[in-house]
Amino acid sequence: MKRNPIVPYILIMVMGLVLVFFLGIKGIGDAKEIAKEAEGGGEEVAAEFNPEAASKTCIGCHGENLEGAGGAPSLHGTGLSKEEIADILTNGKGMMPKGLIPAENVDEMAEWVSNLK
Ligand code: HEC
Repeated sequence: MKRNPIVPYILIMVMGLVLVFFLGIKGIGDAKEIAKEAEGGGEEVAAEFNPEAASKTCIGCHGENLEGAGGAPSLHGTGLSKEEIADILTNGKGMMPKGLIPAENVDEMAEWVSNLK
């Protein structure tokens, strides 16, 4: 039987189609990721909690370097445990207002404060 000379071309065409198909699928995935980075990406960065940035909220009362000011004590070496700080952040203390730090970030903030030397 004589091989049909067109067979290799058909094979190449099928391979090409398969390739285009998979690149297309990957392209959709990449495009979704890029779109996510473009819209959700920025949001994610903003939503990511940064204790150092959040400490700007504390500066007004606790002083520029959180070294204490006015009625608010220094946050360096408070001797308080992470749990005690988290409790103060959650419930407030005296003039210290509660709820400055969103509940889901209190632990991280408390950890950061407890590590101030
Ligand atoms: C409105 C002013 C104010 C702001 C803003 C504020 N604090 Fe305070 N904070 C106080 C005062 C006043 C005290 C002392 C409360 C007391 O002992 O009665 C205090 C106490 C504390 C204590 C206990 C310190 C100790 O040695 O007893 C911690 C910890 C603390 N604050 C953390 C923070 C953090 C972290 C922030 C920022 C997220 C913050 N505070 C923002 C006023 C403030």
